[in-house]
Amino acid sequence: MERLAVIGDPVGHSLSPLIHMTWIDTLGLEASYESIRVPEGQTASALDDFLREGFRGLNVTLPHKQAVLDKVARRSEAVDAIGAANTLTHLGDEGWRADNTDAPGLIMALARMGLKDLSGKTVLILGAGGAARAALFALDRAGADIFLLNRTVDKAAAVLAACCERPHQHGPLDDLTRHADSADLIINTTSAGHGGAVIELPAGNGRLFYDISYGAPAAAQLSHAREQGWETEDGLAMLVCQAAESFAIWFDGTRPDLEAAITVCRDYMEAGE
Ligand code: ATR
Repeated sequence: MERLAVIGDPVGHSLSPLIHMTWIDTLGLEASYESIRVPEGQTASALDDFLREGFRGLNVTLPHKQAVLDKVARRSEAVDAIGAANTLTHLGDEGWRADNTDAPGLIMALARMGLKDLSGKTVLILGAGGAARAALFALDRAGADIFLLNRTVDKAAAVLAACCERPHQHGPLDDLTRHADSADLIINTTSAGHGGAVIELPAGNGRLFYDISYGAPAAAQLSHAREQGWETEDGLAMLVCQAAESFAIWFDGTRPDLEAAITVCRDYMEAGE
């Protein structure tokens, strides 16, 4: 029996158990996936406990995405550049390996929207916090030209330097309307929607506005984007895609059914409304 879990605090709202158990059941695997609350400050001791208990892998959410890095034996290039991990894999005697599947998860989610080749595309990224870092890493490596807009401009420059290999542009979020014309798509990584704020958008003319949030925090922003003529997509598919990348790491490259998990999550969220 392979034991898997998502750790965080809070973690009760996480859709990860639903997504992974859907795949485990469908594929008939001998595995379990739990959600386990680990309070801030207890990351290191919890990781030791999970190793002892023989867990195969963990997904990591707030507030542990950076703290786990102090306890891992190996980490991917993405983890180094992004400065955070969302997937840990038990390597046997060596301990944990850290990966970041948010980055490939975003690329998969954009491909699902028909954006299969991002090379030379101009992407406006809104926000320069923790959630932006995986998006910047992924889009930089995918060959996109990035314009990073953030309320606090200094943060944008620092985050670009940390996460990207190629040069990109940045500026204040207030300049969104000025730069939107040249964008092939916009990706919103800000937490504005969690505070009830909506970032005002100019006309979209059918281009994609991708919000990495989903559910209630994304609803007002996506509705405004649609009113302005943007094609919209929320972050649920990205959540499922990063889960699929983690699943493939733990189960020898097995590629689970994305659409089945997206449908299960949407049904679950609708039932809870
Ligand atoms: P996360 O890990 O979700 O990215 P974070 O690291 O706190 O959270 O970053 C939140 C991001 O959303 C930041 O880019 C923040 O802008 P600042 O760097 O200027 O703080 C942005 N953000 C939050 N609320 C916002 C709002 N009401 N309008 C615009 N940007 C907002």
